[in-house]
Amino acid sequence: MRVGVLGTGMVGQALGGKMEELGHDVVVGTRDVQARLARSEPGRGGNPPFAAWLKDHPGVRAATFAEAAGHGEVVVNATAGHGSLQAIELAGAATLADKILMDVSNPLDASGGLFVCNTDSLGEQIQRAVPQARVVKTLNTVNASVMVDPSRVGDADHHVFVSGNDQDAKDEVTSILTGWLGWKHVLDLGDITSARGAEMYVALWLRLYRATGDAMVNVKVVR
Ligand SMILES: NC(=O)c1ccc[n+]([C@@H]2O[C@H](COP(=O)([O-])OP(=O)(O)OC[C@H]3O[C@@H](n4cnc5c(N)ncnc54)[C@H](OP(=O)(O)O)[C@@H]3O)[C@@H](O)[C@H]2O)c1
Repeated sequence: MRVGVLGTGMVGQALGGKMEELGHDVVVGTRDVQARLARSEPGRGGNPPFAAWLKDHPGVRAATFAEAAGHGEVVVNATAGHGSLQAIELAGAATLADKILMDVSNPLDASGGLFVCNTDSLGEQIQRAVPQARVVKTLNTVNASVMVDPSRVGDADHHVFVSGNDQDAKDEVTSILTGWLGWKHVLDLGDITSARGAEMYVALWLRLYRATGDAMVNVKVVR
């Protein structure tokens, strides 16, 4: 499948790299390709600079957000939450029309709080910005390494969530999560307003990380 990944950070690298490994045709989008490739500082979490990562992934191409969005049959938003609406605008509402937009972003501000919550969410803001796209919020509740290898935590016996207005899109994303990435448990939270819960959970995730000192943590929903 053709996949467009918006975002060159550890999440874009994790998802883009995994999808390339699975044989998909991946284009990773950035604001300015030359400027991004020229940056040599390591990424967060000890990730390599994007240019070095790209050399290790010869099947992946770097392009603008608009080109990556145009390329993808499925498009992933893996941009910093504060820049996601700008990235989506650069990708283009018409380009994203009818496409599945897997939104893994979190609305984190500089202090580690959320810049939108309670009565709205970044997932909803993105859906409003691209009304014809089929936005599915998912994977934002786990670390990038766990996203692409849930077996890193407790034999993958834990949950990931999907939120979105389009049932077919959620079903397709669920197939991607289970078939491509190895998730065993995908819980449909409801329409895109349920992204508020998935995004506000990040406040707890950050405390779990601080309390355990381990980013390889997740929750299991037991009834
Ligand atoms: N890190 C994790 O383990 C993790 C887990 C769950 C969810 N998330 C969420 O996933 C997203 C990506 O996280 P990350 O750690 O991979 O990287 P990040 O540093 O949060 O985001 C990097 C990407 O954001 C883009 N960006 C930054 N400011 C922008 C702006 N003003 N306009 C447009 N684009 C902008 C950058 O574009 P350029 O390439 O042009 O610089 C880059 O591609 C975030 O929303 C994060 O909260 C992360």
